[in-house]
Amino acid sequence: MVVVAPDVSSQSETLLPPRIPRHVAIIMDGNGRWAKARGLPRTEGHRQGTENLRQIIRACVEFGIEILTIYAFSTENWQRPPLEVRLLMNILEMVLDRELRELHDNGVQIRHIGKLDQVAPHLQRKIREACAYTRDNRRLILNVAFNYGGRDEIVHAVQEIVRSGIPADQIDEALLNQYMYTGGLPDPDLIIRTSGELRISNFLLWQAAYAEYYFTPVYWPDFDREQLLQALHEYSRRTRRFGQIDEQLTDEIGE
Ligand code: IPE
Ligand code: IPE
Ligand code: MG
Repeated sequence: MVVVAPDVSSQSETLLPPRIPRHVAIIMDGNGRWAKARGLPRTEGHRQGTENLRQIIRACVEFGIEILTIYAFSTENWQRPPLEVRLLMNILEMVLDRELRELHDNGVQIRHIGKLDQVAPHLQRKIREACAYTRDNRRLILNVAFNYGGRDEIVHAVQEIVRSGIPADQIDEALLNQYMYTGGLPDPDLIIRTSGELRISNFLLWQAAYAEYYFTPVYWPDFDREQLLQALHEYSRRTRRFGQIDEQLTDEIGE
């Protein structure tokens, strides 16, 4: 009698992998191309992208991810046509207005990383209020990188260190870490970029030193729960050595 083994490979991808990253960061890219491919305005891609974000946040909570950092607007995105810039600002405002209560009820703590001073005062206020309102939530930390640039973050950290009068010989990696916008949080374990671009576009330059990268051609509005699960499986198969050799590693290292 021939016994046919069940197809465990496809089944197992629908289950959670054994190692879940604590901190996942996402470069949510490809909204414009998603829209263009459908003969729609770029605006529609951004709108669809925010819809998608909801399910990804929900999936992160479900999968037990502790921190999700999303790249929503870079310091370079100001160079886009003024109308698109305005739209991206409006989108954040709309998301905060519409989603704040649900995010709060789901235990999401919102944090902002980046520079707020170039952002319109009423939006700055909304962002600050959302962070304050959700401050005590513990299920998922959602870092929103908005007007964020990795180089800007490093410059800002150095300025703050100099301003506080810390002597040069007391400056080390741990101190710089504290002065980053993500100060106090662990580095990202996994950085996902959608849309097929193979670059980091000024995202988390300092924190990404030992992150695992996952690049997918899927445009952000199509990157769903299953896609995230695939990325987690890929992450789980990687060996993180942190400069060591395989023989030195235990299961605990880096987790
Ligand atoms: C990502 O999608 C959203 C932001 C950068 C704000 P894009 O708008 O970059 O979409 P593409 O890359 O042009 O397709
Ligand atoms: C990176 O995407 C920034 C965000 C996703 C917010 P971009 O579309 O701006 O990056 P480049 O210009 O292709 O590098
Ligand atoms: Mg892009």
